[in-house]
Amino acid sequence: MSDRRFAIRTSGCQMNAHDSEKVANLLLHAGWVAAADPDAADLLLVNTCSIREKAEHKLYSDLGLLRGWKEQRPGRLVGVGGCVAQQEGDALLARFPQVDFVFGTHNLRLVPALAEAAEAGQRRAETAERRDLERFDLPARHPSLSRETPGRAFVTVMEGCDMFCSFCIVPRTRGREISRPAAAIVREVEALAADGVVEVTLLGQTVNAYGRHDVRRGRAEQAGTMPYAALLRRLAAIPGLRRLRYTSPHPLFFDDALVAAHGELAALQPHVHLPVQSGSDAVLARMRRRYRADDVRALAARLRSARPDLVLTTDLIVGFPGESERDFEDTLALVRDVGFVDSYSFKYSPRPGTPAAEESAEAVPAAEAQARLEALQALQRGLTIAYHRSRVGAVTEVLVEGPSRKGGRLQGRDPQHRIVHVEPGAGPAPAPGSLVEVRVGEATPHSLLAEPCAGGGEAHPGRAFLSGAAASGR
Ligand code: 5AD
Ligand code: SF4
Repeated sequence: MSDRRFAIRTSGCQMNAHDSEKVANLLLHAGWVAAADPDAADLLLVNTCSIREKAEHKLYSDLGLLRGWKEQRPGRLVGVGGCVAQQEGDALLARFPQVDFVFGTHNLRLVPALAEAAEAGQRRAETAERRDLERFDLPARHPSLSRETPGRAFVTVMEGCDMFCSFCIVPRTRGREISRPAAAIVREVEALAADGVVEVTLLGQTVNAYGRHDVRRGRAEQAGTMPYAALLRRLAAIPGLRRLRYTSPHPLFFDDALVAAHGELAALQPHVHLPVQSGSDAVLARMRRRYRADDVRALAARLRSARPDLVLTTDLIVGFPGESERDFEDTLALVRDVGFVDSYSFKYSPRPGTPAAEESAEAVPAAEAQARLEALQALQRGLTIAYHRSRVGAVTEVLVEGPSRKGGRLQGRDPQHRIVHVEPGAGPAPAPGSLVEVRVGEATPHSLLAEPCAGGGEAHPGRAFLSGAAASGR
């Protein structure tokens, strides 16, 4: 049993990355061992993404390669999960003989059983949408998983999306919004903190929609949920938890309590990744985003007045059907006005079955969309470097992730979620998972370079804070 090895290949968002961790955890608990790479594996899982056409095509090119991988050794198995699996289900088994099983986004718990059945020669697809909370009942983190991201962990608070933006496939691959009971979330974060985790990132497709359906229907108590800001407050008080983040919120669900939490909870980090998609009111309306560009400007101002050092990053789509030059300029203006410190920008990709893909609005020519993407990214590069320069000379705190790719430095993230490379100090190198004080010496386009603070360069290993007073209040 113990010599069966698995590897997982993941595409897409943090939700997918965390799903892969959950599947790895389940397999470890079922007696499987993690392989260093696919060459050493008997079971290869492909966790797929379908957010854009390019991501979806990756699966099909991967599957070609996997045929060769399987032929190298008899008995090797391939499982496909994630958003493409959710959409295609049985069709993947029918089309690709090299696929042994398929698991949907609500059926992670079935992976060990599916793998076992596949070993006995049964090919199955499990992609039923599950509306119960059972899918959140997962075993505690296996010790060998803790070693992969020392000091840090993701925690799911809600899943699914009920927003149905007109371009987006997610509501069709991740199902309806469902929020976990707060007590289960608190227990999970407490266990992680006791295990040395100092930074938790709360995950949800529209994370700050947490509990909203229950609160609105007056059944929060029964469901065990609470308003999102109240959940943050509860979690920020957990001893040992030094950093709390969340991703990704929807601009519509920033009530006053959530904005105020950013000023009041020291553990809540001064960074919000706020996908805004466009700065044109006409495009936003056709995207069904339910806010206008000025609402985003106002929200940015509210967040900054609660927490002046707060950094905003975003997601943007260019070339949405019918987007005019003027619409695109409105996007540039919004990016400039808010001063986003970073952004992920994408060319619109029609997703079959979404309203935007069926709409009659005129497609933006590919060359035009490409030119807009480049113009947007050029603006962003200027904003990013300007922000990085503004940090030179400042003292900040870095959560060490591991060695940098070059030059004997360490790499980690500061409170604003910027990548920081830290020069080696005089003493022993701080361990991954520890928090170190540094002074920023140099700005680069993608990161900050820093040195441990003279005298103040003491590391704060996560465990030392277990019994500390920690994180609430400022
Ligand atoms: N085309 C291009 N980008 C998309 N996104 C979501 N759907 C599409 C699409 N059809 C982008 C959005 C979202 C991010 C995760 O992916 O910007 O915030
Ligand atoms: Fe997609 Fe919109 Fe839901 Fe985000 S809020 S997952 S973009 S439908």
